[in-house]
Amino acid sequence: MESKLLNILPMNSEINSDGHLIVGGCDLVELSEKHGTPLYVYDESTIRSMAELFTKEFTERYSNSRILYASKAYMNPSIAKLSIEHGLGIDIVSGGELAVAASVDFPADDIFFHGNNKSHSEVYEAIDYGVGQFVADSFYEIDMINELASNSNKVQKIMLRLSPGIDGHTHKKTTTGILDTKFGFSIETGDARKAIEYVLTCENLDLTGIHFHLGSPIFEMEPYDLAIRGVIEFLNPLIKNGFNMRDFSPGGGFAVGYTYEKSPPEIGEYAETIVKALTESCEEFDIPSPRLLVEPGRSIVARAGIAIYKVGAIKEIPGLRKYISVDGGMGDNIRPALYDSQYEVIVANKLNEKHTEEVRVVGKYCETGDILASSADLPVCDSGDLIVLPASGAYGMSMSSNYNLNPRPAVVMVSDGKSKVIRRRETYTDLMRCDEFE
Ligand SMILES: Cc1ncc(COP(=O)(O)O)c(C=O)c1O
Repeated sequence: MESKLLNILPMNSEINSDGHLIVGGCDLVELSEKHGTPLYVYDESTIRSMAELFTKEFTERYSNSRILYASKAYMNPSIAKLSIEHGLGIDIVSGGELAVAASVDFPADDIFFHGNNKSHSEVYEAIDYGVGQFVADSFYEIDMINELASNSNKVQKIMLRLSPGIDGHTHKKTTTGILDTKFGFSIETGDARKAIEYVLTCENLDLTGIHFHLGSPIFEMEPYDLAIRGVIEFLNPLIKNGFNMRDFSPGGGFAVGYTYEKSPPEIGEYAETIVKALTESCEEFDIPSPRLLVEPGRSIVARAGIAIYKVGAIKEIPGLRKYISVDGGMGDNIRPALYDSQYEVIVANKLNEKHTEEVRVVGKYCETGDILASSADLPVCDSGDLIVLPASGAYGMSMSSNYNLNPRPAVVMVSDGKSKVIRRRETYTDLMRCDEFE
């Protein structure tokens, strides 16, 4: 198989003699016959490898590092269990993500609760479960966490999310470290300093550290370097004044390969930049080295997952273009419609055939913008062929909806030639389970 394709498919993918794509030892044509389409397939060994790679690249350079899986990328009990097995902590942003973590007895100490507007009940549930840390985003939240911790007679560990005023140069809808963002306490406006000083006066809060997240996906090293150095410089007087910073997190946002044209940096390159910036600036200001928390989401699961769709209607507009309609679309992957995200497209049952046509791959939802790939070079497709979008493991299913009342796809995990359903396909009954019929 061509290396450009191998780089965006789950690790160890193959093509068999019939031209079928094999992932985790399973033939995708057989999987789609068995489980139906649209279908999300996760390769277990790719998730395990990415978890190990992150741990290795960071701890080899900075032993006091901890990797937290940002579960918003895709959360499911099986994925949460893999995180536990690989010693990853977890970043959650809702009571729902907490409930899934709790369903597999995720160690409470390893849970970090982020988000810019946690509700009273979410904070209550998290304190009750004993989550290790909250990452507070506003004065409103600081007061709420302090009050609920006090009601439970607890001293709750928290970190504060800062907005360092650094542009990660990613899509405007996923940039989060600049001044004009809903996330975090701005250094520039003085809120960050005020928030740190304020938390230090709260009796039921233990301020362990500082967090920021620049956005996602970030292909450049410079934003991490600038943000870490800038934040440590800002923190220096506060630390000298008694703030005991034990944790430091530059967030996640590490890029993955979606297309042949744009390859992501190696994880080691991110680790090198982050560790160097942190170590050098702590040395420069003579600050004790904190624990380094890193929060990859996309980069743990994106490559592991693929989406399989079946081709239905085909429409040709002579002299203009050919539309290939598939049985999923923006309901299971909103990223192209929301962020203009690009994906490669392959035909899982025709991998040995020449690419002779340029087509537009569209979904089945009643929206003109329901386009999965606006221009894809494919072999001649027929109804019934299987279209695969590689690198679909992050922010596809996790952002999915029931728009047009389509049931969400099934999700299967593959490993060593075996497949296991980790989320069954939704049914019409599922679609109506919250509706009242009186
Ligand atoms: C606070 C925080 N940490 C980590 C992440 C994970 O980002 P990514 O999936 O790009 O690694 C996000 C994504 O939105 C985030 O908001």
